Amino acid sequence: MAAMADPGPTGPDLSTSLAAAEFPAPVFTASGCAAAGRELAPFFDLTEIGGVVTKSIMMSPRSGRPTPRMAETPSGMLNSIGLQGPGIESFIANDLAWLRDRDVRVIVSIAGGTAEEFGQLATRLRHEPGIDAIEVNISCPNVASRGLVFACDPGAAGGAVRAVRRNTNSTVPVLAKLSPDVTDIVAIADAVVAAGADGLSMINTTLGMVIDTDTMRPALAGITGGLSGPAIRPMAVRAVWQVHAAMPQIPILGMGGIRTGLDALQFVLAGASAVSVGTAVFNDPRAPLRVQQELAAALAERGFASLADAVGYGQRGLPHRPNEKGQSELMEDSDG
Ligand SMILES: Cc1cc2nc3c(=O)[nH]c(=O)nc-3n(C[C@H](O)[C@H](O)[C@H](O)COP(=O)(O)O)c2cc1C
Repeated sequence: MAAMADPGPTGPDLSTSLAAAEFPAPVFTASGCAAAGRELAPFFDLTEIGGVVTKSIMMSPRSGRPTPRMAETPSGMLNSIGLQGPGIESFIANDLAWLRDRDVRVIVSIAGGTAEEFGQLATRLRHEPGIDAIEVNISCPNVASRGLVFACDPGAAGGAVRAVRRNTNSTVPVLAKLSPDVTDIVAIADAVVAAGADGLSMINTTLGMVIDTDTMRPALAGITGGLSGPAIRPMAVRAVWQVHAAMPQIPILGMGGIRTGLDALQFVLAGASAVSVGTAVFNDPRAPLRVQQELAAALAERGFASLADAVGYGQRGLPHRPNEKGQSELMEDSDG
């Protein structure tokens, strides 16, 4: 490992940015894993981490999918919560107000069933102060297209992001959250960036299924669900790597199975400027702050004076330069 500048007695500079939004620290909660942050407040000071990414909010209140909607899996969990939430008005009046009163930095996640609904959500949020960025959750079904998930189609993904970008104040970055359930994630990243995304969040859960061998029926009432946790970490690191290789100027908020500072470091070395901690919070509510402290120690041990120096470091000087899809010849050699 090449020695970098000395991190000094106060440790490495952890400040980071996601397009125009600047943050003093790089670890965030993940959408849907800490509601609007309030549940975590008894465990640590939310202003010490980068910020809270709120549960995806829709225009109207929703009760979500029927139960059971969680199942354990090896090194992960499967959920089919189905975007349960109070709707945008209640979110603004209660959750956003609570976060703003406490000076917590906030990335608001929004989800819609049509591009128009995405646009309406952005319009409703436009004049609300205290929003650092908008995360566009495009891993939801497009009702105008027989339920095809926006994130799986470049045209639909771009349409949703364009509707948000048009209706959001230009000083507030729009991050598009990508699904790993695609053949070519760089093509989707290209489409949403062309539609005006300032940054990318990746990855959302991947579609999975568990069958209960006692009942011999699917374990989830919704039959399939989203797989999260350490089981998906290698997929997530690969996705961040491929997209950073193809478009190094686009900031990435990386997530997928981060439990420790070293897990977070993998994402940073692959090209993420910040990370979200999701599933890990369910058995360690202090995980975001702990991961951030461990990441700082890991950067210092490796001689990094700043987080910024480590972003994408894993890609520098490789013998095989990635091609335009972010794949190196070494990756293409794998069996299977
Ligand atoms: C219970 C649960 C609910 C989630 N809800 C949302 C959501 O509302 N919006 C969203 O964009 N992602 C949602 N996600 C995905 C997470 O934000 C994250 O992208 C994914 O779980 C991978 O990170 P992790 O392995 O650290 O959990 C949810 C994940 C879980 C486990």
